[in-house]
Amino acid sequence: MTDLEARIQGLPKAELHIHIEGSLEPEMMFELGQRNGVTLPYADVAQIHAAYDFANLQEFLDLYYAGMSVLRTRLDFQDLANAYFQRAEADGITRVEFFFDPQAHLERGIALDTVFEGLHAAAQTAAKRGISTGMIMCFLRHLTEADAFDLLERAEPYRSMLIGVGLDSSELGHPPRKFKNVFRAAQQLGLRLVAHAGEEGPPEYVWQALDELGVDRIDHGNRALEDQGLVRRLRADQIPLTVCPLSNLKLCVVDDLRSHPLRQMLDDGLLATVNSDDPAYFGGYLNENFLQIAEALGLSWKELELLAGNSLSASFDS
Ligand code: ADE
Ligand code: ZN
Repeated sequence: MTDLEARIQGLPKAELHIHIEGSLEPEMMFELGQRNGVTLPYADVAQIHAAYDFANLQEFLDLYYAGMSVLRTRLDFQDLANAYFQRAEADGITRVEFFFDPQAHLERGIALDTVFEGLHAAAQTAAKRGISTGMIMCFLRHLTEADAFDLLERAEPYRSMLIGVGLDSSELGHPPRKFKNVFRAAQQLGLRLVAHAGEEGPPEYVWQALDELGVDRIDHGNRALEDQGLVRRLRADQIPLTVCPLSNLKLCVVDDLRSHPLRQMLDDGLLATVNSDDPAYFGGYLNENFLQIAEALGLSWKELELLAGNSLSASFDS
């Protein structure tokens, strides 16, 4: 471990943008496939790695949803989340607010109870090891708002396990406004609100997430920088942005980490945080994101401390 890696590991920090299903490593995908008799369209782990070459968000999502087919039992979800929490611990993370996609499991015939109970069991183990966690249930935006309402109702027995709801999946063509009513209902249940916006979608989607959904944080937010009025708003209200450098590179949201908007976000006084998104698919967990973006943008140690501090202040238990 280099000196910088050790210092990054030692920074107290939270991860606020991790899709737990996106932490499914190819090795575990194979193992669970065998355990559950699910045949994968790959001969070996090397073939899976080779398939992870994405031109955009949708190309990734297609493999992300296909990869999940091996998750079938409560123990599978528990093993998946345990493995991520162990990596989080190794990275020096003290707080994790993680996303999960129940609709992607329900539509494969997996009971909601299996998903919640498996993830919750892993969260309890993490707590014993000093990592506090919060579960954020995401609505898939390529589905309808009625589908989202259906999920919110079905999740009622598990309300106490949740800290919030989110909005993910294919962004273009699915503006936040589409989910205005279900977000209001979730807010009335006392849940915190977040939404992916401005990853591929225009600044207008970030405005809608703020003004029509009333979100507490924006996930990604890259394209917000195209609108100076929006930048002023994000700065004035200190809306946290959960930025994911390696994801942006792998999904061609940026051509090169050296031109990543995080530099401008910091210069503009925005409350940016660094996160891993779907680390098993994008080539690095949280510390690797810190390290690579620090090197590419020449971030100072003070800036790295600021980013880590931002993650703690933007977390929902702060
Ligand atoms: N689901 C998992 N990862 C995602 C991302 N980066 N954007 C939108 N939906 C996702
Ligand atoms: Zn994401």
